[in-house]
Amino acid sequence: MPGNYQLSVDELITECEEVQALGIGGVILFGLPESKDESASEAYAENGIVQRALRAVKQSLPNLLVITDVCNCEYTSHGHCGKIVDGDVDNDASLEWLAAAALSHARAGADIVAPSDMMDGRVAAIRKVLDDNGYQRIPILSYAAKFASVFYGPFREAAESTPQFGDRRSYQMDPANAREAMREIALDLEEGADMIMIKPAMPYLDLIRDARERFDVPIGAYQVSGEFSMIVAAARNGWIDHDRAMFESLTSIRRAGADFILTYFAKDAAKLL
Ligand code: PBG
Ligand code: ZN
Repeated sequence: MPGNYQLSVDELITECEEVQALGIGGVILFGLPESKDESASEAYAENGIVQRALRAVKQSLPNLLVITDVCNCEYTSHGHCGKIVDGDVDNDASLEWLAAAALSHARAGADIVAPSDMMDGRVAAIRKVLDDNGYQRIPILSYAAKFASVFYGPFREAAESTPQFGDRRSYQMDPANAREAMREIALDLEEGADMIMIKPAMPYLDLIRDARERFDVPIGAYQVSGEFSMIVAAARNGWIDHDRAMFESLTSIRRAGADFILTYFAKDAAKLL
């Protein structure tokens, strides 16, 4: 993934200082554990990499908004987002891990938790465990409409989270199904999501607009690794202008109705804005 690297905790602090100085709204953390196992145990370990990173960032930069991605795929040896039971991802069995991960992030200082796994019922499970432990004020940003997209390729390579067998189509959504996206958003809001996200962004601008018209909550859009990498690759080949393509893509997402955008262009864009 062009220009994006795995960071150690001390490198993360330097990165976050830059991000804050540029006036960017916040960061989202993804973790890469030293070892992966069948039960994603590093995802919810008290001293897991994200939990350690959170404490370090909050200590050096207490005012930087820190969101955590809550999922299991970076932590499981098989690379799936949930628990494998009889050769298949078991939705309900995965909820306990997700709730435990979200709670451990809240304990370590996360400002917002963002479940990205797409298991049904995970927003309710996370809301319950946070409330039961005194974290009523930690909001949930749900990746509510997340499609089984080929555009996650560069991220999976960077995060070493490609599934070792099968694919994610039993839990992520069918790119052709727009109505299901609206149902998923409605369900997540009923379960207690405070903000929702559509992912990827540019191939799903119609759904950002649909969601904007139907739901009166903050809506984010995630311009994913493949969307970003295509623009960077074309620019490196001299085929398109990097900065103009970057701004045109971000503008389209904003125009469709997104209130906020997760993008790997954040620093480049902030420098020019
Ligand atoms: C974890 C997760 C993924 C991305 C964000 N969270 C990978 C996936 O679902 O396979 C992709 C982000 C990107 O492509 O930039 N579930
Ligand atoms: Zn995942």
